[in-house]
Amino acid sequence: MSDTHEITSTSVDDTLAIGSRLGAAAQPNDVIALTGPLGAGKTHFAKGIAAGLQVDDPRVVNSPTFVLVNEYAGRLHMYHVDAYRLAGPAELAALGFEDMCDAGGLVVVEWADKIQDLLPADSLSIELAVTGENSRQLRLTPGGPHSKQLLTELMRIRNDTT
Ligand SMILES: Nc1ncnc2c1ncn2[C@@H]1O[C@H](COP(=O)(O)OP(=O)(O)OP(=O)(O)O)[C@@H](O)[C@H]1O
Ligand SMILES: [Mg+2]
Repeated sequence: MSDTHEITSTSVDDTLAIGSRLGAAAQPNDVIALTGPLGAGKTHFAKGIAAGLQVDDPRVVNSPTFVLVNEYAGRLHMYHVDAYRLAGPAELAALGFEDMCDAGGLVVVEWADKIQDLLPADSLSIELAVTGENSRQLRLTPGGPHSKQLLTELMRIRNDTT
């Protein structure tokens, strides 16, 4: 997969900053599919995205415990889905997941591998791997032209600012 990019995060702040740049680059109907084990940093990455979308208080972004989808108002409306506790994809489909992906906002899914069949093909997949106490390796793979453009924009911003 030549389209895959790798980014190393060496701290929580780094993960927040990378997420924030992605939030700043996001376009309506972008879908970001986060995977990786417990404690990989998916929620921190989502917090960063919220900050980049200028959500009022990104600190409130947490793993949705009792609800499966949290929504935040920002430059784009953010839908934050945590599929960990889902009984199955049908549960999320019943909540209107397909419409969320097509509502002009930004959809961020934690544990995206649990709802693989529901995800639009053109999602940006981001796999977070734990490589040390404070380090994480991010593998970003676009699934189509829309997400490829988002990834290109993210890499462009990174090169401008780091
Ligand atoms: N570089 C890093 N990036 C992100 N988190 C890090 C990093 N280094 C250490 N951490 C720690 O790893 C944990 C990541 O927690 P977080 O809730 O974001 O993970 P998660 O992938 O959402 O887990 P879960 O699957 O349980 O929801 C936090 O305790 C954080 O402090
Ligand atoms: Mg989480």
